[in-house]
Amino acid sequence: MTTTSPVLVTGAASGIGEACARALAEAGRPVVLWDLDRTAVTAAADALAEKYGVATCGQAVDVRRLDDFAHALHTARAAVGPLGGLVHSAGVVDSTPMTQLTPEAWRRVIDVNLTSYGFLVAALADDLRSQPGSAVVGIASINAVVGQGTIPSYTASKGGVLSLTRSLAAELGRDGVRVNSVCPGYIATPMLERVLADERTAAAMSGLSMLGRVGESAEVAAVVRFLLSEEAGFVTGATINVDGGVLANDHTAAMR
Ligand SMILES: NC(=O)c1ccc[n+]([C@@H]2O[C@H](COP(=O)([O-])OP(=O)(O)OC[C@H]3O[C@@H](n4cnc5c(N)ncnc54)[C@H](O)[C@@H]3O)[C@@H](O)[C@H]2O)c1
Repeated sequence: MTTTSPVLVTGAASGIGEACARALAEAGRPVVLWDLDRTAVTAAADALAEKYGVATCGQAVDVRRLDDFAHALHTARAAVGPLGGLVHSAGVVDSTPMTQLTPEAWRRVIDVNLTSYGFLVAALADDLRSQPGSAVVGIASINAVVGQGTIPSYTASKGGVLSLTRSLAAELGRDGVRVNSVCPGYIATPMLERVLADERTAAAMSGLSMLGRVGESAEVAAVVRFLLSEEAGFVTGATINVDGGVLANDHTAAMR
């Protein structure tokens, strides 16, 4: 049976989130798009409705504002019906080492990347249980697995996404809800735009991949769409790396 229930995508006005909303709409699934900027998220939702002929709903929601979820979801359900999927792609990075990081800056990254993920799944639990084939995907990162001294709040938040995913999968599995995470490697999106504009850095990032290049948002979205589909019906509590082999690569080999 093809899963056709609506999916909520956070961080959907840009990059990987936008690509996920697009891939799902292309497969005929209604999509609810959340992002900070009302104009951008409404335009993205309207463009998908126009191109793919599915119901869409673009909403300006700051995922740090947990108290806003109930009202926004009420409006979303009125537009597209009960939700049978979630992609949590909203994310921020803060390049401040732990020795210089303020508690406020730490909390911002944890709140956007991790805390909202758990409370959003909780807010959606009844919807997810009610829809056959429901599934959730948390967008983590290769930095959930490997450390980096310049982005400690980010690595902690993404490690949290992986472990929270497993706990959510355990809690909701008997209700038929699957929960998985994806670890993108270096993907050409606005988040990496400034970094990739530097030719040496771009070449170094490409060189870490077994494929010798950075990835595209659509390549992450294709895996997310699979995880939300009936094709992945026995996949839960799992992590899939979409990183061109960065995590599998022995990076010392190039020195020998
Ligand atoms: N680009 C990469 O190389 C890469 C690698 C690994 C993981 N990721 C992860 O993928 C996800 C998407 O990143 P991207 O590269 O597409 O970045 P992006 O900056 O293009 O998109 C992130 C989106 O999240 C939105 N957002 C930020 N804070 C928000 C908030 N409080 N409430 C609602 N929306 C908010 C932004 O407005 C933006 O539209 C992030 O979780 C990121 O950590 C990206």
